[in-house]
Amino acid sequence: MRIIRTKDYNSMSKIAANIIRAQSVMNPESVLGLSTGCSPLGTYKNLVKWYEEGELDFSKIKTINVDEYKGLTKDDPQSYAYFMNENFFFNININIENAHIPNGMAQDPEKECKRYDKIIESLGGIDLIMLGIGPNGHIAFNEPCEYFTKGSSLAVLSKDTIEANARLFDNPDDVPKLAYTMGTQSIFMAKKIIMVVNGEAKAEAVKNSFLGPITPQVPASILQMHNDFTLIADEAALSKI
Ligand code: GLP
Repeated sequence: MRIIRTKDYNSMSKIAANIIRAQSVMNPESVLGLSTGCSPLGTYKNLVKWYEEGELDFSKIKTINVDEYKGLTKDDPQSYAYFMNENFFFNININIENAHIPNGMAQDPEKECKRYDKIIESLGGIDLIMLGIGPNGHIAFNEPCEYFTKGSSLAVLSKDTIEANARLFDNPDDVPKLAYTMGTQSIFMAKKIIMVVNGEAKAEAVKNSFLGPITPQVPASILQMHNDFTLIADEAALSKI
């Protein structure tokens, strides 16, 4: 595990974007695993800027997102599909058919999870995945539990996660209670993993995940075992380690 300490959010974002840029240039047909949230937003901004400057080509890139709320359509501004379209996909030349995200409106959750796992399989796995972290140490929507998850599942969101994500909703009661998530094993199988983390509110999660024991009660702790994992974090997020 490598730790890159950055002075602030902007330098964190630039470093993460540079790693994704390198991956896309070295292999223009890469499969990228992607996340939503405030942490990766600056990374997407850099990538869009470089695309506009003619430095990047996403025409053969394939992407697979790690999670989506259940019950939100892709046109709902709170959905992760909407976030990805607005902040990344609609601003680059990706073939939108190559940009995968769980269908929050799927009728049958079990079928949807199977469909999503099949997509990961058909893509031949993930070359590089960018993660964020929840304040309770979750990755994607894999919440603290008794075991590390394997394939995709419909997760029941913890009270902590609902509270943390309520900041992005007008009404806290609107935060969905269920969400689709890629399994921890699928994430772990990615060839390279990067995680972007900023701010003091994440310092405890960083400490528990990367200085504590490897346990499903802190889902991100499994990343300690990955052989190509890079944590890119600002000083505030690293303030407890
Ligand atoms: C959400 C998402 C995660 C994300 C995390 C951090 O709950 N399920 O995929 O990494 O929270 O989000 P943020 O970067 O906005 O703090």
